[in-house]
Amino acid sequence: MNDEEIEGNLAEITAVSIETTASALSFLIFNVVKNPLILEKLHAEILKVFGSDINSTITYEALESCRYLDGLIKELLRHSNPGPFNLRVLESYENVGNYHWSPGTWFFVDNHRIMNNSKYWNEPMKFNPDRFLSEEHGGTNEFRNMCKNGYVPFGGGLRICPGRNIAVIELKLIAVLFFRKYNIELLDNESIKYVYRGTNQVRDFMIKVSKR
Ligand code: HEM
Repeated sequence: MNDEEIEGNLAEITAVSIETTASALSFLIFNVVKNPLILEKLHAEILKVFGSDINSTITYEALESCRYLDGLIKELLRHSNPGPFNLRVLESYENVGNYHWSPGTWFFVDNHRIMNNSKYWNEPMKFNPDRFLSEEHGGTNEFRNMCKNGYVPFGGGLRICPGRNIAVIELKLIAVLFFRKYNIELLDNESIKYVYRGTNQVRDFMIKVSKR
């Protein structure tokens, strides 16, 4: 790669990694604090896995053993995904949706609508981590029967988000660090404001934080 290509790649990674994860974190706090039962289940799991010492070490293995947290982050990325679209451009003539399209046509793949479509999801507007948990772990396991490409928080195919694993680990880690240590109050309980600028970016999200 030449200098210009390196600069382009670094700029892209910085833009798509920081904004998406920061917005996901705001959506996470909003949805968890708005649902006291979810917060209660999360607190119970944190206590069970990491103990009552709020400064205990968090290992990767312990983080991965948190079934509820896993469902929570999956549901977050379904319900309130910061990356609502993929872009694709045709290189050749193609038939898509009973239309014939020319090379050079741009497609916005609406990930958000796919993941919030009642054809595929029960009560899609409801924030419900249980849909990603097996019955054995107290969930409904709705995700088990999901059709191919019905869950696409990180896009798909060759251009799927290369940062998806680190993003999920980061969100899980911050969720544990944050919720085990602090009480959080939403200053606007009704809604969370965001704008679409290539990603969904949260604006003016105000919370009150105090020690637990
Ligand atoms: C919650 C966090 C994130 C979400 C929801 C997200 C989502 C997405 C989506 C939907 C795409 C488009 C994929 C496609 O076209 O099929 C994408 C691309 C990309 N993401 Fe992420 N992403 C996140 C975090 C990150 C992080 C942390 C990094 C880097 C460390 C990253 C790096 C990239 C890059 C470089 C691309 C472009 C890939 C390409 O065009 O080939 N993302 N992301």
